[in-house]
Formats: sequence, structure tokens, C-alpha cells
Amino acid sequence: MTLTLDYSKALEKVEDLAYIKHLALASKEILEEKSGAGADFLGWTKLPEDYDQEEFSRIKEAAKKIKGQSQALLVIGIGGSYLGAKAAISALTNNFHNEMSGSDDLKIYFAGQNLSQSYLIDLYNLLKDQDFSINVISKSGTTTEPAIAFRIFKELLEEKYGDQAKDRIYATTDKEKGALRDLAVKEGYQTFVVPDDIGGRYSVLTAVGLLPMACAGIDIDQMMEGAKAAALKYSNPKFEENDALLYAAIRNALNRQGKDIELMVSYTPELFYFSQWWIQLFGESEGKDGKGLFPAAGSFTTDLHSMGQMIQDGRRNLFETVVLVSKADKDLTIKEDQDNLDGLNYLAGKTLSEINKKAFEGTYQAHVDGRVPNLLVEIERLDAYNLGYLFYFFQKACGYSAYMLGVNPFNQPGVEKYKANMFKLLGKPGY
Ligand code: PA5
Repeated sequence: MTLTLDYSKALEKVEDLAYIKHLALASKEILEEKSGAGADFLGWTKLPEDYDQEEFSRIKEAAKKIKGQSQALLVIGIGGSYLGAKAAISALTNNFHNEMSGSDDLKIYFAGQNLSQSYLIDLYNLLKDQDFSINVISKSGTTTEPAIAFRIFKELLEEKYGDQAKDRIYATTDKEKGALRDLAVKEGYQTFVVPDDIGGRYSVLTAVGLLPMACAGIDIDQMMEGAKAAALKYSNPKFEENDALLYAAIRNALNRQGKDIELMVSYTPELFYFSQWWIQLFGESEGKDGKGLFPAAGSFTTDLHSMGQMIQDGRRNLFETVVLVSKADKDLTIKEDQDNLDGLNYLAGKTLSEINKKAFEGTYQAHVDGRVPNLLVEIERLDAYNLGYLFYFFQKACGYSAYMLGVNPFNQPGVEKYKANMFKLLGKPGY
């Protein structure tokens, strides 16, 4: 079993969901028959079984070329054009990947995910003396944040490499429209396609996520294999046997009981950006028409020392979804100290992963005792296969969950409001 969902601390028995079972099954049918709102954006459901093999090979070739030509890759994108790759690279590479990179490894940096002048200046100064390539990613090809970052770093590449700069730029965008597509065609950049029927936050398993991952040395074949296994598993029509459907139904039930915040919790900082990816997935898919659970993240035990009090003892309007990795790939053991001045000898011989597990068990029980329902999503180890599986699990659950709420999971009309105001303030023509 790649993933287990333990809902015993959120629900007494699965029969308690009988009153919404029909709604969950109807949402599954709507998604699978492509009969709901936003049905033109369901390409991700079949992607792991049916992806463009030619594009996949080009991704691997490009990754090889980038590694050969550069010390660093700058990934430019925002939202769904950035968080999937960031999540995978954080989860699957060394915590200090850029500092540890050997001569064959690429350092990976991100830009275009904010408008901070200090971030861009610092990054510019860091990259100006390194050989680097750019993967600029924007499905629409018109998003302001990545467009600004790309203008700045494209100029730097052109200063450094002249006409050869275009050989270091890889654009991932719509197959025919948008400013980035036009620019790529005119300048002759190598391009990768974000399929028409896959929206930004569901695009991690397309070139959007896969090219940066391949550049970071992640096994993208295994990632797709994991997602494929999940696609098969969560096509199960039996409500009680389909964990993606059960997860969607339990969140819906908890929401009806007044729980309007879901906190995704992990016990390893490698999963911090996975939580950020999940926040965007659920937040942007569900938060519309005055509905939706507010998705938040906790990185434990770090945040137990900041948010722990609120979770244990504050308003009882939240539940937790803990993502747990059962097996550690590396570990260290606490040694005996002769003087024991720090009083830690009671831990001697124990591994850090055992201690972290006890922190989880203690916290889990404390929060449940404090009337915080807890869901547990457990995978065996943090590798490309399991992460591909996890990406797909949450995407499928999110589709089900949004349809259960009665909202379109695949649009984001609310995001336009800030842009319109900003453009007006900046004097953009037409605003
Ligand atoms: O999920 C989405 O569609 C959005 O979050 C987009 O990914 C984000 O706004 C970036 O858009 P684009 O890839 O068009 O630059």
C-alpha cells in the first residue's frame, strides 16, 4: 500500500458519512464523465497513463543539455507554474541542495514568484558570475511577475552570452498563444507545452514541473509511475475503498460541523513546499462563491512553538491533515555523554526519526484530546514514486471536494481582482 488514510481520529465510523455518500459519488461521476463546470480542464486526470512521450524525452534531453551548459538553472514562474517543481525539489533533494551541489549538479533558483526588488537584486548579483540557464514558465504567457523577472534575467543572459543566450532559454507555455509563446518563436527558444486542458495548479506532472525536476536530478519516470498507480487506485467506484473520495467527503463533513480551516501538517521541512503546493491547489480550487475550507500549513515541530497554543486551545474551528513519512532514508543516533549536563542521556541510543515519531504521537493525541479532528495520510518513504502518488491523490481529492461544494475547481476568477487594481494603478493601457 503506497498511501494509507487513517480517519479514526476524525470520524467514528465510515457509516457516519452515509448522509453525504451520494454527494461524493455524484461528484466522482461529474468529474469522470466530464459533465461539471470547468470540464475542459480535466486533462490531468488521464495524464499519468497517457502523456506525450515525445515531449517527455525532450524534457530529459533538455535537462541533460542544461546540466552540460550551466552551473545553475533559474526557474521563473508563479503559482501553479512554480509550486509543484519547488515542492518536488525541496522534498526529494538535499535540504542544502544549492550549497551541496557538486560539479555535475545544477543549483536551482526561483524567480518570478514575487515582485520584491531586493530579492531580484540579490539573485542577480548571485547569478551574474555563474553560467546559468533559464526555464521560464507561464501558461498564459502574460503573467506580470514572471514576465518582469524574465525581462531582467534575459537581459543578463544576453549581456553574458550575446547571440548564444537563446540556447540557454527554455520556455514552457501555451502551444500557440500568449506573449511568451510569441517571444519564444521570435527568438528561437526551445519550448515545452502546457496542455490546453490542464490548468496551472494541476500541471505539476507536465513539463511545468517535470523539466525543473529533471534538472534537479529527480527520477521523473518514477514520478509518473507513482502518479499512474494513484490514477488506477482512485478510479475505484466503491466509496468506502477510494481514499481520495473518502478524504473529500470527510473534509466536507467536518466543514459542515463548523471546521472551516484545514491545517496540513508535516514533520520534516522537506515537505514545507508540498504544503504550499497543496494550499494553492485547494485554496484556488475551492475558495469561491463564499465557500471553501481555508487551507493552512504547519511545519512541526517548528510551528508547535508558534501555533501550537492556538491549535491546542484556541477556537475549535480547525482540523489537521498530517502527512507522515514512515521510513527515513537517513538517520542519526543520539550518543551517550559522560557528564550528561544537558540531561539528554535518557535519549541515548535513540534515532532522530524515533524521537520525531514520538513528537508526532504526542502531538496527535494532544490535539485530538483538544477536540481537533486529525486525518493521517501516510506514505512509506519520500521518493519520486511516492511523491507522484501523493500529487495525484490530492489533485483527485480536490476535484471531488470542489464538486461536492458545488464550485468549479478549475477557474480562479477572484485572482483577477488584484491584478486589475494593480494595472490601473500602474497605468497599463486598457485599465
Ligand atoms: O492555477 C492557476 O492557474 C494559477 O495559479 C496559475 O498557475 C498562476 O496564476 C500562474 O499563471 P501562468 O502560468 O499563466 O503565468
